[in-house]
Amino acid sequence: MLRQPKQYGMGYTALNGGRMAASTTDVKRVTVDDGVALVTLTRPHVMNALNLQLRAEIIEFARDLDADPSVSVVVITGEGDKAFSAGADLKERGRRTTAELYDERRFFRSRWVSAVASMAKPTIAAINGYCLGGGLELALQCDLRLASENATFALPEVGLGFLPGAGGTQRLPREIGLQKAKELILTGRRFDAHEAERLGIVLRVVPREELMTAAMALARSIARQPRMSLIQAKLALNASQETMLSGGLQAENEAWLPCLLSDAWQGKLKRFEGSS
Ligand code: HXC
Repeated sequence: MLRQPKQYGMGYTALNGGRMAASTTDVKRVTVDDGVALVTLTRPHVMNALNLQLRAEIIEFARDLDADPSVSVVVITGEGDKAFSAGADLKERGRRTTAELYDERRFFRSRWVSAVASMAKPTIAAINGYCLGGGLELALQCDLRLASENATFALPEVGLGFLPGAGGTQRLPREIGLQKAKELILTGRRFDAHEAERLGIVLRVVPREELMTAAMALARSIARQPRMSLIQAKLALNASQETMLSGGLQAENEAWLPCLLSDAWQGKLKRFEGSS
């Protein structure tokens, strides 16, 4: 059953030098079908650049989709055929004072930097073009990434006088190793989808016209799994990146035990009953 578009919160609150700003014009669209929520960033006229409103809406949908019992997996993509996201909205940033940017980092960053990564449900980025700066950092918050052949990647922040400050310096080396991450971040160079695949930034590269079909098929194959074990497996896998082996094995056991409380496993094992 297709329900669209589903509204996840109306309006947003932006830090704006202490002033509150609100909008009722969404800059993302959410549709839910077959246990898969498809979130589309809808600012194609600026390459789906992440302004404050869009980032606030991403924080909102992450919370709301995690709580939505009809959703098991979330796919994120960008509208249009040019960009997943060209990163922070540089026009908006250019209009803001140093004090506003400082406040934004103090009060907003902690909610943004792991908004998608901290979702209990699996997430997939379907990268359909430019995936730059904060756009790549958003993709790195997702569990899995597929890219179309025309996708272009970069973390150009150092060249802009900053550094990747939305998780890039921490998540990229965990995905591809420290030395390769240093080369990409310190040079800021662009690289294509095939290099992203070789590096391990994306799982697979597919022709542009097949991207969404491939992303939705992957999402559905995950969404078909029992909900409890899916979520607990993601929890245990994430623990592997944050603890030593002994702590990780402990986390794995803690993630495993609640699976006993779901009846999914009993149903799955029923057909083996009676066989020796
Ligand atoms: C705001 C953006 C934008 C962005 C593109 N646009 N990227 N607006 N923020 N990040 C706008 C353009 O200004 C233009 O609007 C329209 O989108 C189309 O872009 P073009 O440049 O005309 O298209 P094209 O020639 O195809 O080039 C695409 C591009 C280029 C390669 C993506 O736009 C580009 O380099 N953008 C900047 C990418 C970037 O450096 N992102 C920041 C990463 S750093 P108009 O109104 O002119 O039609 C980051 C962390 C924060 O995310 C860093 C803090 C400083």
